[in-house]
Amino acid sequence: MHYSEIEHRLCTSVFGHPFIYKKELASTNGMLLDLAGNGAKEGTVVATAYQTAGRGTRGNKWIAPAGKNMSLSLLCRPGVPAVNGLKFTLMAAVVLRRAILTFPDFKNYTKPEILFKWPNDLLVGRKKLAGILLESTVRENRLDVLVAGFGLNINSNSKKLSAKVEREVVSLVDLFGGTIDIPSFYIHFLQVFESAYFYYMAQNLKNVVADWETYSALQNRFLKISDGGEMHGGYYCGLDSDGFLCYRTKLGTLKKVIGGRVIEWRDINAFSD
Ligand code: BTN
Repeated sequence: MHYSEIEHRLCTSVFGHPFIYKKELASTNGMLLDLAGNGAKEGTVVATAYQTAGRGTRGNKWIAPAGKNMSLSLLCRPGVPAVNGLKFTLMAAVVLRRAILTFPDFKNYTKPEILFKWPNDLLVGRKKLAGILLESTVRENRLDVLVAGFGLNINSNSKKLSAKVEREVVSLVDLFGGTIDIPSFYIHFLQVFESAYFYYMAQNLKNVVADWETYSALQNRFLKISDGGEMHGGYYCGLDSDGFLCYRTKLGTLKKVIGGRVIEWRDINAFSD
């Protein structure tokens, strides 16, 4: 299917209208933030075959081979209090996982176990399948613009990458075999996204944290956390009601990760220090 067919094939009323596709651009998140600043409506989607300056979390670059993977951003204007920001990252992960596992092309395949690494990674085993970057603007303490950017490894065969990268990433083609039609996946994804978004919004984002936790890769793990240049260790204790990760140090103190990130997660007896 061609990308130009996506919009009129969509069974959505908001997401994917309009669906803007570019062969190449700097960053889908960047372009959509610009459009949002000029009044683009909720549901606008920007996708591309290749990003020359793809953005990852914490200012990292996001690099993906041309035409092989999902590089798509969608615009929400939730208007809810800004404290909910992290829950949208968790929601985005839940929705992407659901879209992969319900994609009709994979109906007859054994489903891989896709788990989340807080807050925004989809993993199979210890390998990264997808990353999500949310960028937002706040007006009067409410989320006015929320751009959710999805980078999912689809048709990039990890065996063709360097041995180091191959140890760290996995794609849908690695998991399911045949080449996947990316426009068909986008249609399915946007339909799953729209129904989940309006469901979660209707219940004030109540179940997002619990739905994310069901598939946390961090259950029963000892974590190493990097926070503001310092390293911390502790046992995973789930998320708080806003979606922040909690852990208990070996001395028993309960702590929360606000700006930091999980850099290692092992069975609870794996660390001696
Ligand atoms: C991460 O670091 O794991 C997040 C990666 C997010 C990449 C996606 S690709 C589409 C969208 N546009 C960007 O510039 N980044 C996100």
